[in-house]
Amino acid sequence: MEELKKKIEEIKSLEDLEKVRVEIFGKKGILAAEFAKLKDIPPAEKKDFAKGLNDKKAALTKIFEDIKNLLEQEALNKRLKSEAIDVSLYGYELKKGSLHPVMETMDKIIDYFATLNFSVESGPLVEDDFTNFEALNLPKNHPARDMQDTFFFKDKNLLRTHTSPVQIRTMLKQKPPIRMIAPGAVFRRDYDLTHTPMFHQVEGLVVGKKGEVSFANLKFILEDFLRYMFGDVKVRFRPSFFPFTEPSTEVDISCIFCEGKGCRVCSHTGWLEVLGSGVVDPNVFKAVGYEDVSGYAFGLGVERFAMLLHKIPDLRSLFEGDIRLLEQFR
Ligand code: DAH
Repeated sequence: MEELKKKIEEIKSLEDLEKVRVEIFGKKGILAAEFAKLKDIPPAEKKDFAKGLNDKKAALTKIFEDIKNLLEQEALNKRLKSEAIDVSLYGYELKKGSLHPVMETMDKIIDYFATLNFSVESGPLVEDDFTNFEALNLPKNHPARDMQDTFFFKDKNLLRTHTSPVQIRTMLKQKPPIRMIAPGAVFRRDYDLTHTPMFHQVEGLVVGKKGEVSFANLKFILEDFLRYMFGDVKVRFRPSFFPFTEPSTEVDISCIFCEGKGCRVCSHTGWLEVLGSGVVDPNVFKAVGYEDVSGYAFGLGVERFAMLLHKIPDLRSLFEGDIRLLEQFR
């Protein structure tokens, strides 16, 4: 008995414990062998012998269970320790991306016109002289070409200076009626607080049968659009000149910073210029072979809109790729 007790108490692992269990308590184990002797015991001693055996079995079982519990607890502790997660450890920071303020502004502009069923057209960044200038009523040597400082390639191609050439491309491949916008990058030799050599414009063009599309339509749409973009502003149409429209107007909104009282941003005029527009010049329709039509067009600078909406003082900062700056626009 003492020997068996010791044997159990010295066990160090659950595997060894199982072996000893079979050895002592198993069907062919030590205890079973002892119980087998019972049948050879004289009847008078049987009772005491059986009791002794049962007591012995109970005592060993108790020791066995105690050791088993102990070993199981140890194994569990070991596992908990090895699988423990340190919730106070820093994880990998997953940075959330966001739209560049210029793209976000562009999307907002596109949303407005897409809702009114304008198609969204695009054209190449490298343009030819005909599409960027000539067809837009800007013949060679026309003084208005000076309005745009152009990047030319050696082969006479150029980086488009505005998105207006997409008007031409769309009219050349499509019959009227047309209701389109053309968002995209444009390029000019310019670099200061409010100009970068690459910036974005959205061009708009609506063409219908002669007399169907008027300046009144243009006025209505642009007023509505500018209030959608800037809230409750006054809108002013000011006579101007663009070669591709006649009459041409520049469109101002009442200053969103001083509400028209006059401040530094609006140069104390109370107005901010935001758009160019007009009734399409007949020469433009002639260049693309359209007859008996009328239409209006407009063009705007997306960066200008973004700067006003986000109060960005220096446009160049938006193109330096400083994430700390861009994160502010999330
Ligand atoms: N293309 C002009 C620019 O880049 C903007 C513009 C003005 C477009 C009047 C138009 C328009 O379609 O009618 O400054």
